[in-house]
Amino acid sequence: MKTYTLSSLTLGVVALIFASGCGRQENSGSTSTATPAPAEASAPARPAPAEGRAIEITGNDAMKFSVTEIRATPGEALAVTLKNVGTMPKFSMGHNWVLIAANVNVEGFATDAAQAVKTDYVPAVKPKRVLAATKLLGPGESDTVRFYAPDKPGRYPFICSFPGHFQVGMKGELIVE
Ligand code: CO
Repeated sequence: MKTYTLSSLTLGVVALIFASGCGRQENSGSTSTATPAPAEASAPARPAPAEGRAIEITGNDAMKFSVTEIRATPGEALAVTLKNVGTMPKFSMGHNWVLIAANVNVEGFATDAAQAVKTDYVPAVKPKRVLAATKLLGPGESDTVRFYAPDKPGRYPFICSFPGHFQVGMKGELIVE
């Protein structure tokens, strides 16, 4: 289980935008704005809560989550349990539950995730994109991830990042309000 904070998300997105190229005009004065703020790197990560409101979700061989909408209050402690109730083997029909930060391109994330075989389809690059994730589960397995809902109200997508599952609808939203 891993937990992540939102503290560096905005910075990361901004850095990504700059990295992806805003043009390199010779008289541009914007280069200094991409310098990371040192305070972000040294901010301590918020530890995961020991308890949280239990939310139980199943995933199955039809590549669907039983719960596609979760509502929470800002900063609420949650404990999401995913159970794989399918019967197909993990290598061909594994499931996980991955909560993604706001303002992240979900399609792009899913594409990166599909290539992250060694880390159970949770990409290690740009880890700030992932707010919470269960383990990748085979048939009959379950896992619980405890985390704090984001402080900022909004809609946060969650997906199964096993290749192809998000694309056929194994997804939902955490709505913080
Ligand atoms: Co799946």
